[in-house]
Amino acid sequence: MRAACRLTGAAMRLALDAVKPGVTTAAIDRLVEEFIQARGATPAFKGYQGYPAATCISINEQLIHGIPGQREIRDGDVVSIDLGVRLNGLIGDAARTVVAGMAPPYLHTLIATAEGAFNAATAVVREGVRVGDISHAVQEYCEGRGYQVVRAYVGHGVGRMLHEPPQIPNYGAAGSGAAIPAGATLAIEPMLTMESYEVRVAKDKWTVLSADGLPCAHHENTVLVTATGCEVLTTVSWQTAA
Ligand code: MF3
Ligand code: CO
Repeated sequence: MRAACRLTGAAMRLALDAVKPGVTTAAIDRLVEEFIQARGATPAFKGYQGYPAATCISINEQLIHGIPGQREIRDGDVVSIDLGVRLNGLIGDAARTVVAGMAPPYLHTLIATAEGAFNAATAVVREGVRVGDISHAVQEYCEGRGYQVVRAYVGHGVGRMLHEPPQIPNYGAAGSGAAIPAGATLAIEPMLTMESYEVRVAKDKWTVLSADGLPCAHHENTVLVTATGCEVLTTVSWQTAA
């Protein structure tokens, strides 16, 4: 898991560095897929329930599961990249949201709040934590800052399969749900909207859009639960990929 997740983080660094006005989402997907293949791994999303690409790239009011294509990223776009890597049978899963070029402060705040929500979640994770403790931490962090958390899609266990139990909602009651043992690996992934937490699926049957039509953000890492806390396994370096 450590090796798969390290590669996931490195692929994400490469992808984020490629986000610029004028670049197509298909070009970023191709870079990522080639990077993963060249390291003896495979893109975990490709072929999953028929999904056609290595990454999901979702722009502005698109929340998740955007299919890469010939759309060009434009100045001020909010771009979410989600990708999974399978290495030696184990999977890392991570997502980041960034702005391309210049954007108004409210978009940077939206994105920072998604990252903050992920950090609020990891702050409560340790051996024996209940799923609801994680859910509650995310919900309280986001709603306390005026954002909504999406109900229809959730975080999850991850390991030999992309989606393993338990489901980890971004809303819920502290103290509820299953207790998580040390050694579990989880994909914790807050998904934030601005006015309504409702979403809809586009005509392509994949892209998930905010119902309010406003920009939204997604931040995800695979973490390892330990006796004293958790380790983020899909770290994305601030240094540019070599
Ligand atoms: N990271 C997402 C998840 O955790 C994306 C998977 S959907 C796929 O569910 F079809 F693209 F694989
Ligand atoms: Co995930």
